Order: sequence, then structure tokens, then C-alpha cells
Amino acid sequence: RSGTTYTNPPSNPTQGLKRPRNDAGNKVTVVLGAQWGDEGKGKVVDLLATESDLVCRCQGGNNAGHTVVVEGKEYDFHLLPSGIINPKSICVIGNGVVIHLPGLFEEAENNEKKGLKGWEKRLIVSDRAHLVFDFHQVVDGIQETQRQATEGKIIGTTKKGIGPTYASKASRIGLRVCDLLGDFKEFSTKFKNLVEQYQSMYSSLTVDTESQLKKLKEYGERLRPMVRDGVYYMYEALHGPPKKILVEGANAALLDIDFGTYPFVTSSNCTVGGACTGLGIPPLNIGEVYGVSKAYTTRVGIGAFPTEQLNATGELLQTRGHEVGVTAGRKRRCGWLDLVILRYAHMINGFTAIALTKLDILDVLDEIKVGMAYKINGKRIPHFPADMELLHKVEVEYETFPGWKSDTSAARKWNDLPQKAQNYIRFVESHIGVPIKWVGVGKSRECMIQMF
Ligand code: GDP
Ligand code: IMO
Ligand code: MG
Repeated sequence: RSGTTYTNPPSNPTQGLKRPRNDAGNKVTVVLGAQWGDEGKGKVVDLLATESDLVCRCQGGNNAGHTVVVEGKEYDFHLLPSGIINPKSICVIGNGVVIHLPGLFEEAENNEKKGLKGWEKRLIVSDRAHLVFDFHQVVDGIQETQRQATEGKIIGTTKKGIGPTYASKASRIGLRVCDLLGDFKEFSTKFKNLVEQYQSMYSSLTVDTESQLKKLKEYGERLRPMVRDGVYYMYEALHGPPKKILVEGANAALLDIDFGTYPFVTSSNCTVGGACTGLGIPPLNIGEVYGVSKAYTTRVGIGAFPTEQLNATGELLQTRGHEVGVTAGRKRRCGWLDLVILRYAHMINGFTAIALTKLDILDVLDEIKVGMAYKINGKRIPHFPADMELLHKVEVEYETFPGWKSDTSAARKWNDLPQKAQNYIRFVESHIGVPIKWVGVGKSRECMIQMF
């Protein structure tokens, strides 16, 4: 075994370091969902990806659904970073992501049919990422059925096996990319043990282990050329020549396992810390942190939603906004913009700027409301409640704005927007306390007003 031993440790501990300690290297720009997901992160990432060398995913799996519209063609990405559409970007799937291999290849093939090119040569996958197996997805479904039977309510997961896979990871029985690409005999034994553990918990679970292993071996070989030591790869990217690095958050602040509306959340950290732990990036390397929010609020799945509009306004937002999930095709619940949740997301993420998307959807409204504060028993509360019972009970204080009642979809500059829309944006900005850098007025790449 060869190792380095310091027979003569330097008297000055920084001597011999290639660079001084204060040279942190390249900064990383992070794009994060500030609400309950589907804010338009894909579109913002696409905009930034055109000038990025690396686009990285750090958490979540194919529960995410990110839409990118380029030259009239709509691409949807689930596991692949949205930057893959940019032929110059290298894309990284970090250790914090959970990967369903059949899903990954299927997604790439679907997008290839639409024109995606050369992705296999531009995708890097961390050897530390955990694998989602087909049975994790089956278990996701069984758990939902059990929740319905025991508690009378489900979470409304995407059934992509996300929760069960992160559970395997936290239980230290999960299997990673490096396991799949190592000794296959050992992998097979571990896989069988894992299946048995799940079968002991879920008696109805049947798994054709041999055929699963056969397929996994094939997928593993297809994946092998893309696999790297993710930490070292990122280290080199951070400390090599200047590079523009982008991290594409999936899911969103209110779905974060720690900070979201637990238990109606996903199973990863979708807030800024996830960028560090999901890629192996030191906090010192985090640069801009962009929060993405719609000009109203949506939520897919179950759980408290204080500004939800179960009325004609909600229906109008749903239909005008085409608010249907990209992953599971479910109708999204809709309501007014909620500044309490945006301020809460900012407390956690420290946004340096906001992208406010889908302003155009509000174009036809006579009046527009914004949730300003939550009250419990008539008293304002300064925080976002952890307890879901409490969140269900809050009364929302609203500010009402007159609608601008005109089409904003052709606006390309701030001055193209009607005064009333400008007032709305400025008001939102001042109450989050973060500058709004972009305003979205349509699906495609060009439909984004850049403010500074
Ligand atoms: P993500 O999960 O955050 O990437 O968002 P999704 O792709 O799931 O959902 C956002 C939807 O809104 C997609 O269909 C986008 O094409 C669309 N979209 C994004 N920005 C805008 C915008 O400014 N205006 C309109 N009308 N649609 C937008
Ligand atoms: P993007 O990246 C919206 C929601 C699900 C469900 C809960 C848990 O497109 O914004 P899971 O399958 O993760 O265990 O489901 O989280 N959810 C999302 N909702 N957008 C997403 O991702 C979501 N990812 C998970 O609807 O309520
Ligand atoms: Mg989405």
C-alpha cells in the first residue's frame, strides 16, 4: 500500500498549497424553485445554459418535469439537466440525484426524436448517485395505497420511486452507480438482499430478480462511459480555467424534505444546501442564487395551500396557464401569489435575484390579489408554520391590484409592459426584498424580459 507520509511537516501549514486558501475558484449559479414546483425553472435554466459550460442537477429524480421551448419545439426533461439542449453544455447528474436508468434512457430517446443531439457525449453521471429500481416505483404506489387505507389520504406522489429510493439511501441499504459498475456478482447479491428486505415489508411485492439484473447490467454498460467520480469532476471544474457553472434545482422550497409542507413534500433538499451536498461543492463556491416563482401560485398533489382559489379565478389560472403536470399529467391546483412563502423561501435560500414567470397568464384579470401575511386567531404570525394543521387554519391577508387587461406576451423590455403590470412587479419585488431580474411573458426562450 503506497501512501504519502509527512516525515517533515512544513512549519507553515499553507506552504506547498498550489493556491492560497482564499482562492475559492469558479462560482456556481444556482436556480431554485421558490414555490411548490413548476415555476418555470427549465425555461430559466435554458436561458442561462446558452452561456454555461456546465449544467448540473443536484437532487431529486424523474419526479421533476422541466419544459423548454426552443424554436417552437417543446422538450421536457425529468432527469437530464435542461441544459442538455444547448449543444455546448456539458451536463452533470450529481450524487444527490436518484437515477432510474430505464427512465433516463427513455427520456433521452424521446428528446432525440425532437432533435436533441450528442447527449451521450455531454452527460456526466456521478458514481455516488443512488439508483431507483423498478420495485422502488412499485413500492411508491403501494405506500400511497396504504396511506389511503390507514390515514384516508395520500401524498399524491409522482410514483417515480423517489421516496423509497431516498429511504433506501438513508437506511444505508441503497445501491449506487459505483456498485452497478463494480463487481456485478456482488451487486447482484446486494440487489437480491434489497429486494428481500422490501418484500418482507410489502408482501404483495413481486420482483423478477433475474430479468431485472439482466436489464440492469445492460443499462450499466450503456452508462459506463458517462460515469465519473463526481466530486473530483466538480473540483476540477471549480478550480480549473474560468467556467460558467449552473445548478438546476428540481422540485422546490415548499417541497423540501426539511423546509417544505411536511409530510406533503418530496424526499430531497430542494433548497440551496442541496446544491452543495448533491454535487460536493463547498458553500464558498456558491455565487448567484436565483429563485423562480410564477406570478401566481400552483401546487400538484395534496397538502395545505393558503392562497388556493377553488373558484372561477382558480379555474381561469389553470386553463389559461395550461397548468397540467409534465410528469404525471395531473391538473395543478391554482391560487394567488403568496408573498409569505416567497419570503420564507428567501430566508432559507438567500436569493440574489428572482425570475417571475407567467405574468402573461394574469393579462385578462379584472383584479389581482397577492397574499401578504398569515393570521391565526386574528393575529399576524411572523413565520411560516411548520405544523400543517396550523397552515390549514391560517387566514390570508391580501392586497388587491387592478388588472392591466392587455396582452403582455409581445413585451420584450420593461417599458413594453403596461404601467399596472409594472406596479404589480415592483410591489412584489419590494415585499420579497429581492430584485426581480426576469419577467416571463410566454413559453418560449425569447419571452423573457431581462431587467438588469
Ligand atoms: P419547472 O418544473 O419549474 O421547470 O416548470 P414546468 O416546465 O413544469 O412548468 C412551467 C410551465 O410554464 C411550462 O409549460 C413552461 O413552458 C411554461 N412557462 C414558463 N414560463 C412561462 C411564461 O413566462 N409564460 C407562460 N405562458 N408560460 C411559461
Ligand atoms: P419540478 O422540478 C411539482 C410533488 C408531487 C407530490 C410530492 C411528492 O417539475 O418543479 P414525489 O414523487 O417527489 O415523492 O412527490 O411532491 N412534486 C412536484 N410538484 N413539481 C415538481 O418538480 C415536483 N416534484 C415532486 O406532486 O405532491
Ligand atoms: Mg415541472
